[in-house]
Amino acid sequence: VFWHDEKMHQIDGFWYLDSLMESIAAFRSQFQPRTDDILLTSIPKTGTTWLIALCHSILHRHDNEEEEEDSLMKMNPHELVPTMDISYLTDQVQEHLKSDHTTTTTSPRFLHTHLPYSCLPEAVRSAGSSCKLVHVARNPKDTVVSMWHFYNKIFGSETTPDVTMESAVEGFCGGVIPYGPFYEHVVEYWEESRRRPEKVLFLKYEELCRAPNEHVRRLASFLGKPFGSDEDGDAEVEKVLWRSSLNRLKELEVNKSDEGLELAPIIPKSSFFRKGTVGGWKNYLTPQMAHRIDLLTEQKLQDTILSLDDF
Ligand code: A3P
Repeated sequence: VFWHDEKMHQIDGFWYLDSLMESIAAFRSQFQPRTDDILLTSIPKTGTTWLIALCHSILHRHDNEEEEEDSLMKMNPHELVPTMDISYLTDQVQEHLKSDHTTTTTSPRFLHTHLPYSCLPEAVRSAGSSCKLVHVARNPKDTVVSMWHFYNKIFGSETTPDVTMESAVEGFCGGVIPYGPFYEHVVEYWEESRRRPEKVLFLKYEELCRAPNEHVRRLASFLGKPFGSDEDGDAEVEKVLWRSSLNRLKELEVNKSDEGLELAPIIPKSSFFRKGTVGGWKNYLTPQMAHRIDLLTEQKLQDTILSLDDF
């Protein structure tokens, strides 16, 4: 099975790109969480960049970020929080994990992974581990469209034709996408968040768009950094939202660049920022495609409390 030009492997029901197999295996077998680690989790294109930016901004809201090098005022969010399954074996990540703090001066460490819950390192999932997980999920139709743009951009070349939307939908519905199937991935995190709400926070991209202040407050409380309920607290929430916003990040010179991420050179820094809308799929999917995804969503989620209305 191929994803664009790259071979994929299936392990325990989920698909992974060939080039990441070593890194994934090393992360799964070697990673040792600290008690206060925060692991951000997502399937690609469901709001990873936003989640990273929000967490970073919440944690650093009292810093003078304008003055700092390692800040969202100057950097791409992915350069502040590395993705374990992509770059675990790089020297930078190994150094990073050894150092006292992942980002600038404040504990806890923030790390990110696209792995499904059942594939996380045992040390992270075990009952005795107190490290926390924050998952962000997004509606399947906007996710498929976002993936289509992204993967055509990073895997495309003059000699490789773009994948059509039809075949993107086909792959998505068949579960054959990196880290897919989509539904099993999202349901695993959802169920764990119901079972252990103190360990796993489950956020939805659409909810963050609809009621950003409310959900950013929820996120901050989960991270142990709640905002005050007074006017000062409200102002801090607004500042965090502004610093993490798509419009601001998109306009930074560094994020306009087609230069690749240091830890994943095939991914241009600009490729994480596009429209960021809810329902933008309407411009890309035919009614038949949308109907097919809706039927599958209903079928896949029917035994869970997570329903179609959630998306
Ligand atoms: P679209 O392609 O629909 O525009 P990921 O970060 O998981 O790779 O997901 C990328 C999607 O999130 C893209 O969606 C992108 O535009 C959107 N996005 C990136 N940064 C964002 C931010 N700060 N706030 C809201 N959406 C953001």
